[in-house]
This record gives sequence, C-alpha cells and structure tokens, in this order.
Amino acid sequence: MPLPFTHLISTKQLSRPDAEAILRVADDMEKIRKSGKGDLLHGKILAALFYEPSTRTRMSFETAMIRLGGDVLTAEGIQFSSLYKGETIEDTMQMVSQYADIIAMRHPAQGSADLAIKTSKVPFINAGDGPGQHPTQALLDLYTIQKECGKIDDLKIAMVGDLRYGRTVHSLSFLLGLFKNVKFTLVAPKELTMPEKVTSFFDEKGIKYDQVDDIREGMDCDVMYMTRVQQERFTDKSEYERLKLKYVLEAKLLKGKKVAVMHPLPRVGEIKEDVDALPNAAYFRQAGNGVPIRMALLAMLLKKA
Ligand code: CP
Repeated sequence: MPLPFTHLISTKQLSRPDAEAILRVADDMEKIRKSGKGDLLHGKILAALFYEPSTRTRMSFETAMIRLGGDVLTAEGIQFSSLYKGETIEDTMQMVSQYADIIAMRHPAQGSADLAIKTSKVPFINAGDGPGQHPTQALLDLYTIQKECGKIDDLKIAMVGDLRYGRTVHSLSFLLGLFKNVKFTLVAPKELTMPEKVTSFFDEKGIKYDQVDDIREGMDCDVMYMTRVQQERFTDKSEYERLKLKYVLEAKLLKGKKVAVMHPLPRVGEIKEDVDALPNAAYFRQAGNGVPIRMALLAMLLKKA
C-alpha cells in the first residue's frame, strides 16, 4: 500500500491503515536486515541533516539506507553548515534536493519541518523538530509495543516525565489514539504536563486519560514510557535541576509486574541500571527497532516497497 503523502512531518498525517502498513513492511525489512544487505535502494542517496545532537535517529537512518543498498550524505551541527551564515531552511532544502533523493532532518526549532517541505523537491522526513514532533520515533515505539505486548488495542499506557517538551510522547499519543480502547496515565509535575494540543486531541476523540504526579499511580499499566527531562528546552537551569530526577524507575518498583518499560533514550538517571537485567526492560530492543522502521519508511516514501 503506498503512503498517501510525500513528506512525513507529523504522526497526525497517519491513519491506522497507514501505520499498520508501515509495521508490516518493517517486518519484511527485518529479513533484509538479518541477511546483511539488500539492493532495494541501490543508486539512491539519503541526506541525513542533524542540526541538533542525535545518536540513535541519525545512526539508524544511516544503517537503514546502507542495509537497503543506498548511500548517505551526513551533515551534523548547524555551526558546520551555511545555516550558521544565515541561509534559510527553505534555501537549504532547495540545495539538498539537488544532491539527494530523500532527506531526513533534525532541527532545534519547532515548525522547522513545515518550513522544509515548502521547498523540498524530494521526500522529506522530520527526524525531530525541537519540542514539536518525532514521527519516526513514534512509529518505532508502536512497533515495539506490538512486539512486546502482542497487540496495540486495549492497552494501558503510562507516560512519565517531561510530557511538555518531550516530542516523542506528543507523536506517540497521536498515533496510539488511532487504536481501540487505549487508556493513558500521564505522570508529570505540574510544570511539565502534557500540552493542550495533545489533551484536546484526547478529549475530541473520547480517549481516556488521567493526569497524576506520583509515579506509583502509573504502575498499573502494560507499557511504562519513561522520558528524560529535556535540559536543552529550559531557560531557567535551576528549574531543570529541581525537576530532572523527580521520577526514577528502579527494579524494586517493577517487582512482580509484567509492564514493558520503554524510553526513547538517552536516559540520564530516570531508569536505574538495575532495571536493565529485567525482562521488562524493552528500551534497548526499542532502539534497535528504529532500523527496520526507518528502512520501511525510506523504501515506502521512495516508492520501492
Ligand atoms: N530517541 C532519539 O531520538 O534518540 P537520539 O536523540 O539519540 O536520536
């Protein structure tokens, strides 16, 4: 099934059939990944433009393109690009469209992806726009939930931490809202609660959610989605220091529970290392799932899947 759009900037573009088609293609991509390398995207070039730090998203996009037989151009850091000299995102896209067949861009400004698609002549993928959206992360999260829980409908999801600035929880909320009877517990201090753009979506769709500020009230769930308090989004560093370790998940809190623990990573103390050895710890498997999902997206947007 072809995707009904050229560029992916937000999970709000996706229908449930679109999301399910991407997960099915990702399953096929796992086979190519295990066999080493395919040639589906031979002759195609991905421009991976990362103007904000990244380990997983950049490297899994690059791995995905290489596994499909394509090539990669990488740009890291605004200071090493002509954006630093004042070139606009729109002009940058005009240029890069002439060098590459598909573009993935991370940028610190919310709305940068909307600017990029104004002038991109090739498929564009938002790899994170400030506190806005991170749709490919949400798709790999969805894939992980399906693999860890065996289903997506009828699940209880706790989202914990920085729900205000955490773009991954925004994108994942819109995506999970497409599924049946998914209930949310939103665990955050009052300074970092889920933004109105997400809660009004829940209200419009009749999706059930509770907002609490004690992690123990979120423990009755199938998936606990932990997040990092985002230092880079705070102007007041003392506020960050006060909030950064409000929620710390440790092994003793998970005793006897079947909950799958997820985190987009990096973690900076909010999941203790003693959780890593538990079967609940899904976060490193989750990071690995970024490769087949991004292989699927590259192939589908280039109309080769
Ligand atoms: N999850 C995620 O976006 O990680 P990176 O910032 O390392 O890409």
